[in-house]
Amino acid sequence: MRVPFIAGNWKMNLTHLEAIAFLEQFHAKFENKNECEIAICPPFTALRSVKTVLDEQNMDVALGAQNMFYEQSGAYTGEVSPLMLKALEAEYVILGHSERREVFKETNQMVNQKIKSAFTNGLKPILCIGETLDIRESGKEEDFVLGQLEQCLEGLEIKDMVQITVAYEPIWAIGTGKTATVEDANGMCRAIRDKLSQLYGSETADAVRIQYGGSVKPGNISELMAASDIDGALVGGASLKAEDFLAIVNY
Ligand code: 13P
Repeated sequence: MRVPFIAGNWKMNLTHLEAIAFLEQFHAKFENKNECEIAICPPFTALRSVKTVLDEQNMDVALGAQNMFYEQSGAYTGEVSPLMLKALEAEYVILGHSERREVFKETNQMVNQKIKSAFTNGLKPILCIGETLDIRESGKEEDFVLGQLEQCLEGLEIKDMVQITVAYEPIWAIGTGKTATVEDANGMCRAIRDKLSQLYGSETADAVRIQYGGSVKPGNISELMAASDIDGALVGGASLKAEDFLAIVNY
């Protein structure tokens, strides 16, 4: 049985002070009736404050970062090391988000190095993959997404694989209000699981959690979660409002 996993990706939103205010509202109304695993992934500057408040509130919510570099230390101005995230007690790290691929030109090879480094340093990656609208319209979305998956996972061992979360985020559905249909989203999640089964065996593939991301809202989460191969959601915009994020967690 895969435990549902809902993570909020705040992207470049909320100062550490706004993050604390968010958590006050979140805590006041907190419930987790589906017994999901929940994670909040704030910007680097709010990680410490979010962790402190979650601990004070005694909330069973994990901390995640939105990116990291693959080296542990050194002359990499502006980068954040996995050791620094670990020291802040982050459990998860989002890697290969489409915004990092598009704006910061991250390649599958870099994402692969980051995934390996995350495991070496005791962090669990949330690997994002997904196609553009052009690719979907050309009908080649499955080849593209499975190609990303294979390249990002190259050289990874089975013992690590069970700790990974894959987030299928079609780029055309991110921040656009356009959600993929449940059939399309679940179809791709199933194709991802089949590929994992081919690469790592069915036991591993059955254990890996696959999230859907792209305009997830309180109004569409329950139909997504009812699908056979969608085990959770990576939520952007709707994770910035405590009430909406709680409604999503309690789908
Ligand atoms: P939205 O939920 O705002 O569409 O963002 C999705 C996303 O990119 C999460 O990582």
